[in-house]
Amino acid sequence: MKVAVLGAAGGIGQSLSLLFKAQLPAHFELALYDLSPVTPGIAVDLSHIPTRLKIAGFCGDDPSAALAGADIVMIPAGVARKPGMDRSDLFNFNATVIQKLIGYCAKVCPNACIGIITNPVNTTVPIAAEVLKQAGVYDRRKLFGITTLDVIRAETFVAQARGLEPSRVRVPVIGGHSGTTILPLLSQVAGCQFSDDEASVITEHVQNAGTEVVHAKAGGGSATLSMAMAGYRFTQALVRAMEGEPNVVEYAYVEGNTDYARFFAQGVRLGPNGIEEWLDIGPLSALERQELDNMLPSLRDDIALGEQFAREH
Ligand code: NAD
Ligand code: LMR
Repeated sequence: MKVAVLGAAGGIGQSLSLLFKAQLPAHFELALYDLSPVTPGIAVDLSHIPTRLKIAGFCGDDPSAALAGADIVMIPAGVARKPGMDRSDLFNFNATVIQKLIGYCAKVCPNACIGIITNPVNTTVPIAAEVLKQAGVYDRRKLFGITTLDVIRAETFVAQARGLEPSRVRVPVIGGHSGTTILPLLSQVAGCQFSDDEASVITEHVQNAGTEVVHAKAGGGSATLSMAMAGYRFTQALVRAMEGEPNVVEYAYVEGNTDYARFFAQGVRLGPNGIEEWLDIGPLSALERQELDNMLPSLRDDIALGEQFAREH
């Protein structure tokens, strides 16, 4: 089994690669790729960590060597926000990055599961789907927008609000990955009840958490370490499912089968070939239903922008 990280020299890429080198099973191979010439050196650095997993680093314009034989490709390549920017301000640069990298995935590892971290996720995932489709290799079971950071944030904030052990809290988060499209379903948290006021406070905290980090880093970038942990959690779930563990469920932004939007973050049951089952979003409170209705026009616009970009470029 081989995992490739594209954008491996960045804040997320380096931390994610560290987690992979330290934690993935011994029979895995790890390939790091970035435009940055430091990438082979990052691989040498990580290779001194005493685990069996083989690691190699590649740089330059062409990621093919890193992608050859990859089963899973995680992509945090691109630019990150600075204070005053929205995720959508990253579109102009990152749309082209995703289009190019997914073009290589389509050619070199068309059967790989691909996880897109690059923002704006609401739009980069539709671009990726269209590029794969144009190449004739699109399989919606294998393309994921990584929204696990919203999930771990929601779990952390609920645990803090109720004095619970964070690792035991599970919070579904549906919709997309920006602003009000991020919708934690607090009414579905086992053993917890929230008033509408409490739910609104936690929901807004999850929705604004990315901006909170961008402001706290004061021009030094956006969330990297928590994102790496989230990306590791998602990849680990995928690995467990690909290796035959039954009933592995995570939330991700995928092309599903709901009427809400073509791409929608929802629960998915993972298996050896990616998504095995798209899970129903379950019962919503009146407040959540209202928030879902309110977000849909903006989510659909984000998706249409990605589809249009892929058609025109
Ligand atoms: P960063 O600037 O630290 O790293 C980005 C890396 O991408 C750099 O090393 C850069 O050289 C590389 N890169 C740029 N273009 C490339 C290309 N064409 N091919 C290969 N590598 C390329 O940024 P970061 O903090 O790691 O964030 C990366 C992305 O992840 C941003 O778009 C950010 O908004 C996004 N992000 C998403 C989430 C999420 O929840 N999905 C969370 C945090 C950040
Ligand atoms: C996050 O949620 O932290 C990321 O999407 C990065 C950002 O720009 O907020």
